[in-house]
Amino acid sequence: MSQHSADPAPNTALATVAGHRDWWRDAVIYQVYPRSFADSNGDGMGDLEGVRSRLPYLRDLGVDAVWLSPFYASPQADAGYDVADYRAVDPMFGNLLDADALIRDAHEHGLRIIVDLVPNHSSDQYEWFKRALAEGPGSPLRDRYHFRPGKGAKGELPPNDWESIFGGRAWTRITELDGTPGEWYLHLFAPEQPDFNWEHPAVGDEFRSILRFWLDMGVDGFRIDVAHGLVKAEGLPDLGSHDQLKLLGNDVMPFFDQDGVHAIYRQWRTILDEYAGNKEGPEGSSSEGRWWETGGRIFVAEAWTPTVERTANYVRPDELHQAFNFQYLSTAWDAEELRVVIDRTLDAMRPVGAPATWVLSNHDVTRHATRFANPPGLGTQIRTAGDRELGLRRARAATLLMLALPGSAYIYQGEELGLPDVVDLPDEVRQDPAYFRGAGQDGFRDGCRVPIPWTREGRSYGFGSGGSWLPQPPSWAELSVEAQQSVPGSTLELYRSALGVRRATPDLGAGDAVAWLPAPEGVLAFRRGEFVCVTNTTGRPVTVPVYGRVLLTSGEVTETADGTTVSADTTAWWTTA
Ligand code: GLC
Repeated sequence: MSQHSADPAPNTALATVAGHRDWWRDAVIYQVYPRSFADSNGDGMGDLEGVRSRLPYLRDLGVDAVWLSPFYASPQADAGYDVADYRAVDPMFGNLLDADALIRDAHEHGLRIIVDLVPNHSSDQYEWFKRALAEGPGSPLRDRYHFRPGKGAKGELPPNDWESIFGGRAWTRITELDGTPGEWYLHLFAPEQPDFNWEHPAVGDEFRSILRFWLDMGVDGFRIDVAHGLVKAEGLPDLGSHDQLKLLGNDVMPFFDQDGVHAIYRQWRTILDEYAGNKEGPEGSSSEGRWWETGGRIFVAEAWTPTVERTANYVRPDELHQAFNFQYLSTAWDAEELRVVIDRTLDAMRPVGAPATWVLSNHDVTRHATRFANPPGLGTQIRTAGDRELGLRRARAATLLMLALPGSAYIYQGEELGLPDVVDLPDEVRQDPAYFRGAGQDGFRDGCRVPIPWTREGRSYGFGSGGSWLPQPPSWAELSVEAQQSVPGSTLELYRSALGVRRATPDLGAGDAVAWLPAPEGVLAFRRGEFVCVTNTTGRPVTVPVYGRVLLTSGEVTETADGTTVSADTTAWWTTA
């Protein structure tokens, strides 16, 4: 169980608790999407001060840490995943002082802060790229990206056949200063996101320095964007024929999950370890009395790989700490499929000694309340609302299942309110670059990025005093924090209770295995110490034994003479103590 303390008072006793160093192994980490969390200045866009003002909410929810999607200086071609200055805050989110205040305040609230690091590509407005263009052919800055002459008699064809994950070619031809068509550069995502050449030593130097910059600011970890993409196969070989790539697919590609990425992470780990634990920070700051410095700082990888076994490579003992389990995120609401992926994940993680890292929603995929409202097989970008009631029931059950598994879990802002995806956003408000390039493919991420409703009333339901950069549906008034707070059975209270039980029940989250119990078809049942979890994925009630005292349920559960009846699409937790 996490040793997190909400007590801001210096707690030197914590420094001696060995387990505290490994807080991340069973941590519940909340993803804040800064654009859409809370807007402090009424401009319709969330900001760091907004996040800071809502820290008490996150503390009361009971999470251990907060991961913030990028808030760095950026032209926002891909909602901040196109970084123009890795050491500056974009004015729309605030400034470095706001970041400092947020990190400090989070610690005072007993919360750790994880920031996003985007090392696969920069913005085309990053200093190096601007100079690479301005200095013309032969500029040494071009070697820090993938510039190549085109094929064909006049260089009119791209250097290879790779396609952008956002649709269209992965190459853009530049116009040289004299107006002539020039070289091409590689961008796996939007043209405004040129890929770095990680073979060039300056790139590694720059990112090691960026890591130190944010570590010195006091952050507790980094989520590494496109961690599987930094190294490209030697010679940038053609792919041959292939369907349009999914935004985040699991296919084997010459630009994803190349073995060379691991050397980079081994280097990064040594930097992090200099800061972690009880060692003195580089500024001579003593960890004495600062509870958050008694725990290690961490890396979590966004690494889409073909298998969980490949994912395990990223979390070997001398590399990263966690890697999102996207196979789990992509699994249908089906007991057998879930059981297979749970077993396979735990089996893959055990040999490397890393925790499984469960996740159901994030800013790139349709929220799980909407995924499970639709028939299986539609992928992770769904454009139909489906059966909302069913989706919410399953989403609540899925969350309780996830929070009962050994390892760490990530929660995406708004899922604790049971928010669905907004599937009917008007085209003119959409901002996902994939929407504009993708010819209908994987460009619907705006639907999970609609700002949070905090109150029943108000122009943006308490998101801010002004409007909201994406319109919120009026039905969200009743999904607001205000509408759900202290309401027994609400999704918000379910999350709060679940996180409370998780804190109070050491068998939850810890360990690296589950003991499956016999269960009817379509039902998952497992024991972990004195804790039992049952998930009924079927559309009808099932009867299971009385395991002990019911701790929490996502839906209706009744005890009868024959046992316990767990209603359709419901998870229940018991203690046998
Ligand atoms: C990651 C991010 C996604 C972004 C992409 C390019 O997948 O999660 O939002 O578009 O990287 O940076």
